[in-house]
This record gives sequence, C-alpha cells and structure tokens, in this order.
Amino acid sequence: MPATMPATMPATGPKSVVITGGASGIGAAVAAKVTATGGHVAIIDINADAAAAKAKELGANATWAVANAADEVTLDRAHRELAGRMPPIDGLVPCAGSPEVPRPIEDMPVETWERIFDSHMKTTYVTCKVFGPAMAQRGHGAIVNISSVVGLRQGAHLAYGPAKMAIANLTQMLAVQWARKGLRVNAVAPGVVDTPFIRPPERGGTRDLSPILASTPIGRLLQPEEIAEVIYFLLSPAASAMTGSIVTCDGGFIAGTGWSLFGGVPQT
Ligand SMILES: NC(=O)c1ccc[n+]([C@@H]2O[C@H](COP(=O)([O-])OP(=O)(O)OC[C@H]3O[C@@H](n4cnc5c(N)ncnc54)[C@H](O)[C@@H]3O)[C@@H](O)[C@H]2O)c1
Repeated sequence: MPATMPATMPATGPKSVVITGGASGIGAAVAAKVTATGGHVAIIDINADAAAAKAKELGANATWAVANAADEVTLDRAHRELAGRMPPIDGLVPCAGSPEVPRPIEDMPVETWERIFDSHMKTTYVTCKVFGPAMAQRGHGAIVNISSVVGLRQGAHLAYGPAKMAIANLTQMLAVQWARKGLRVNAVAPGVVDTPFIRPPERGGTRDLSPILASTPIGRLLQPEEIAEVIYFLLSPAASAMTGSIVTCDGGFIAGTGWSLFGGVPQT
C-alpha cells in the first residue's frame, strides 16, 4: 500500500470481522454492530453453545467457531475453518478474557495468576499472530485490542492490570511493525462495562457497584454497545489516521482519578 492518504475516504465500515470472545458482552455487541451495518462476522469463543446461539441470533452474515484463543493450535484450526465461510478478513477484535477477583499476592496461586494473565495477554498475542499476517499481506485491515482503564492506571489486580498494560504495549509495537502494510492496530481502554465479566461466579454473580458508580464521573456503568461504537469506528476507514492509539472510553474515569484528593468526583 502506498504511504499516502487515501484519495477518497470510503464511507463504509469493516466488511468481514473476526471477534474472539464474541459470544458475550463487548465482543457480542461488536458482532451485532457489524452485521447490522451489512458486514460479516465470525464469532470465536471457548463456549461453543454461546457462540452458536449468538451467530444464529445475528443471522446469515454471522458464523462461528470454537477455540481457546490462548492456544495457537485450536485458533489456527478455527482460522482455516472460517476461511471458506466469510469474505477476506479486514477486521480483528481479540475480546476474550476471564475476570480476576482482587486478593493479596499471598492468596494468589501462580497457576491462577497465569490462567488470568494468559486469558488476556496470551489470547491477544495469539489472536494477532494467527490472523494479523494475512491482513498485512493483503495490505488492508484494522485490529482493535482491548486494554482497560486498570491497564493505564494502577489498580487492585495482580494479573488483569499487568495483562491490560502489556496489551497496550503490544498494540503499539504491532502498530509500528504493520504501519506500512496498511494494517492499523489500536486499542480501546474501557471503564466498567455492564457485562457478565463484572459479576463473575466467584462473586456469586453479584457485586456492590456503588464504589464504581461513585468514582465514574458520568455516574453509571457503560453499556457494551457504547464500547462497540468506538471499536467499530477504529475498525472503519474513517479512522485511517489512527494507529498505535490507546483510546479510553470510560465515562471520565481516568480524568477523575486525581479528584480522590479533593473528596472524589462530583456526585451531582
Ligand atoms: N466488562 C468490563 O467492565 C470491561 C472493562 C474493560 C475491559 N474489558 C475487557 O473486554 C473484553 C470482553 O469483556 P466482556 O466484559 O465482554 O466479558 P464477557 O465475560 O461478557 O465476555 C468474554 C467472552 O470471552 C470468552 N472467553 C474467555 N476466555 C476465552 C478464551 N481463552 N478463548 C476464547 N474465548 C474466551 C467467554 O466465553 C466470553 O464469551 C475482556 O478482554 C475484558 O477484559 C471489560
């Protein structure tokens, strides 16, 4: 691809998007947005039943495959399976991951730490490695990785926060590596989004959300569809100037962190 600005700005969004962890939450909202705008999606998830149900719900433009996104062998198999079922891929969203319940390091077995870290960092790395090179070879595409506000600011997680910080770093490395190949790589860093992720089974599926609401300037949880809009924009040619960006979509959370010195963000 020539190192020049596109002569005309294509008005359309991505045409063919792979989403790992696409059966639920933010990934499912991206899948719904892409199909609603006429694009094709492949939902890859470790939960086969949920992936099949989501693809069925989204209709003829959606397909699915089962894979552990941290495992190159199963993800490669899914890549080959999907090749004949959708147009050439021009968008990739590595959205898989498992939540972490904060605890002191004394109570965090290495195996648990590794499982959570890998479910974010390794899944993102393996997904970019399996699907990215073909897009770079075709000279066209966009990847949107998923970091988090807790990857950009210190938080209470031993594995999740470091993994999300590493994802931001990996995003910028790949953005530069593929910049002249026409493949853009950005990340979003969401605040707290209302998905099953924030109410994991270890918490009994419930959680006191009042500290989150109190420290989020807009005073509410974000909806997965709101994050999907930002991801869709970054996937689309309208974001042609953007690569290597870490885009916060957090209801003002990061902007409000310094307000803890002054009694917290305004509550009215
Ligand atoms: N919900 C939030 O508040 C929030 C905030 C910031 C970032 N994020 C990030 O957004 C991404 C999606 O989160 P969500 O809230 O939509 O969660 P979710 O729990 O609703 O969906 C996650 C999906 O990933 C799948 N998955 C988990 N591990 C997998 C693996 N190894 N291989 C394939 N699929 C796997 C699950 O089956 C599930 O369908 C995660 O990376 C999460 O860290 C979420």
